[in-house]
Amino acid sequence: MSLVSLALPAIRVYWIGFRVVLHQLLRRLLRPGWPLKPVFPLQNGNVAIVTGGTRGIGYHTVKYLARLGMHVIIAGNKEKEGQETVMKIKEEALNAKVEFLYCDLASMKSIHQFVQAFKAKNYPLHVLINNAAVMLVPERKTEDGFEEHFGINYMGHFLLTNLLLETLKQSGTHSHNARIVTLSSATHYVAELRLNDLQSSCLYSPHGAYAQSKLALVMSAYRLQHLLTAEGSHVTVNVVDPGVVNTDLYQNVCWAAKMVKWMTGWLLLKVPGEPRRGCIHINLCSSFTRVGRRWRLLSLQRAKDKICGRLL
Ligand SMILES: NC(=O)c1ccc[n+]([C@@H]2O[C@H](COP(=O)([O-])OP(=O)(O)OC[C@H]3O[C@@H](n4cnc5c(N)ncnc54)[C@H](OP(=O)(O)O)[C@@H]3O)[C@@H](O)[C@H]2O)c1
Repeated sequence: MSLVSLALPAIRVYWIGFRVVLHQLLRRLLRPGWPLKPVFPLQNGNVAIVTGGTRGIGYHTVKYLARLGMHVIIAGNKEKEGQETVMKIKEEALNAKVEFLYCDLASMKSIHQFVQAFKAKNYPLHVLINNAAVMLVPERKTEDGFEEHFGINYMGHFLLTNLLLETLKQSGTHSHNARIVTLSSATHYVAELRLNDLQSSCLYSPHGAYAQSKLALVMSAYRLQHLLTAEGSHVTVNVVDPGVVNTDLYQNVCWAAKMVKWMTGWLLLKVPGEPRRGCIHINLCSSFTRVGRRWRLLSLQRAKDKICGRLL
């Protein structure tokens, strides 16, 4: 295993991170009031599932949707933390329709059980937010033997989405499409999809594995939108890159990046809970009702260049 093959994915990921941060800073300096704070319509009667809604971007998404009257189900892998989050959001959002259902995306069995429990409630499903993720974790495997980034970030959400697709199709209407929103990342721009080693077992680079899982999500979202459009169903698929947001996702970055984040985070990074962009915007903004749209120019062409989407 050469040092260069390990260092290259890391350099690429930090490089793209630097570019996104610079972009955020310039936009903040040059257009301080932009984009304008949106006013979203009430969402009473609508149901959403948010994976990983116990902290970070997911937590703030749940809170925001609950404030708008949506019935939100948090799909998470820590029961106690999940129940505490529900109590907190119910108090803060003054909405009693927030629930926690156990779902460990590292386990296919758990995902099946989650969907079974959700379907037993006979709820419709208007929004599925594939938010949960791990980043830069050491090499380890999920219960089903997948490399963790690929298993949780991609395979887990792939299975969940497919098991819930029928319910989404039944809940979407011509005037109000159901939505699948997947959180990707700018790292997909620099990712390589290694089809002969998707589990990164020949060469494990945490940076490469994270970026690869995010590229896989982008590609499968485009493919799914294509299939849904072809069959005329009222479900849209969108991929969102939230930018660089100050959350626990960065707990495994190198110490130098942690130092930079600690010193400059207040200036350079976004804070979670910013509803002007990102998945909340996509869920609720009417311009996203018709087709799966690109957000922050997640690059279909680049994904296509890397490999044909049919393979995922
Ligand atoms: N923050 C950023 O700058 C940034 C940039 C680009 C993209 N994104 C994307 O935005 C999304 C949210 O990130 P974040 O910054 O909010 O991260 P975060 O604060 O680390 O939150 C991640 C969430 O995923 C959950 N999760 C992890 N493993 C899970 C599993 N096996 N089963 C179920 N849930 C699991 C975590 O739950 P536990 O606490 O129980 O582990 C947590 O609630 C991710 O998809 C990330 O890739 C973030």
